[in-house]
Amino acid sequence: MITPFQDKRIVLGVTGSIAVYKSVDLASKLAQSGAVVDVILTQSATQFVTPLTFQSVTGQPAYTDSDLWGSQGHIQHIGLARHAKQLVIAPITANTLAKLAHGIADNLLTVTALAARCPIILAPAMDGDMYAHPATQTNLDTLRQRDVTIIGPTEGHLASGMTGIGRMVESIELLGLIRYGLTRHGPLRNKKIIVTASGTYEPIDPIRGIMNRSSGKQGFALAQAALDKGADVTLISGPTHLAAPIGVDHMEIRTAEEMLAAVLKALPDSTALLMAAAVADFRPVSPTKEKVKKSAGGPKLELEATPDILAAVAKEKSKHGYPEISVGFAAESQDLISNARQKLEAKQLDLIIANDISATDAGFAVDTNRVTILDAGGGEEVLPLMSKDEVAQFVLERVIGLLGLSSNEQY
Ligand code: C5P
Repeated sequence: MITPFQDKRIVLGVTGSIAVYKSVDLASKLAQSGAVVDVILTQSATQFVTPLTFQSVTGQPAYTDSDLWGSQGHIQHIGLARHAKQLVIAPITANTLAKLAHGIADNLLTVTALAARCPIILAPAMDGDMYAHPATQTNLDTLRQRDVTIIGPTEGHLASGMTGIGRMVESIELLGLIRYGLTRHGPLRNKKIIVTASGTYEPIDPIRGIMNRSSGKQGFALAQAALDKGADVTLISGPTHLAAPIGVDHMEIRTAEEMLAAVLKALPDSTALLMAAAVADFRPVSPTKEKVKKSAGGPKLELEATPDILAAVAKEKSKHGYPEISVGFAAESQDLISNARQKLEAKQLDLIIANDISATDAGFAVDTNRVTILDAGGGEEVLPLMSKDEVAQFVLERVIGLLGLSSNEQY
């Protein structure tokens, strides 16, 4: 699967901190995602890790100060800086931060940073007192004012044995941030996309409730795919263990009623609503305040219908014109296509993604899906078994098509 990292040149600067072990992981993840990763180590970074470590995971040469004075030296820093889509320095020490803030260029990394015209991301790692020092804080402010992105540090155990703020963020967060930065010029730039995901939870008593098997995987994949196309994404999800993609505005809800309120709040000026959530159709009429006692015997549950969110959205659309596009999902165990087509019409959708939940390799909780995309014009696109990420990309391509935008402008 093509990701936004494909063939993108990223310069990864590494300075002298024990957090370099996380940068090796980051370099590996970037390379596995298709990026071309040029690593530059400072002299002190080489005390913790060797260039060979990075070369082994990136398949690219890793540079040190010896390259600054080598045969390619006079053009090396300019070349690396010019071709980079992003410069990421992780970990960055207080010392290199200070150099960047003051434009000091005394090694290959700082010379490259000064020559770079691409977006810069810095992930500081240092002892808590060094981080809190006014000099470091002033340097960070200076860099922020120059539109440099600073992520972290976070709180926790530090190499000094102390606990405090100074830990470098995890590689997965940096990967998400880099991905977000690479995709801001996509075809859906400045378009607001709302995605709902996972199931809702309808309480019976304070500790029990009715829920369903939706994992949220398809919805979260749609949110990532929309981000990858450049959109501003609001992700509204019920209870799930999944981490939200970096860059989404994430709203967590529990019940169908709360999801309705969150969707209506997010709706103004939205371009598309992708309603992937498995919203409960029924809820207990009167959830109890106290825990239902076992000794009382099996309780009789009276259920009532939850509000239909897509029906409420259709009403809003007729009044205000947004969202331009509504996409629904139909999970069915029988008469999939005819049921889905009926829903598309009843809920006034532009597309509906029909999902056969009787298959074991598709639908709830698994990583793959087999769907048919139905459109309002009567069209029917049957997709083969594919990953939920790939399904998400297909859906976003269809949304881009409906909006009359060109998806050739990749990332
Ligand atoms: O009618 P049914 O619930 O099967 O339709 C499924 C589609 O409707 C999904 O896109 C789901 O997110 C949405 N839905 C809704 N409000 C509900 C129940 C489902 O918008 N109360």
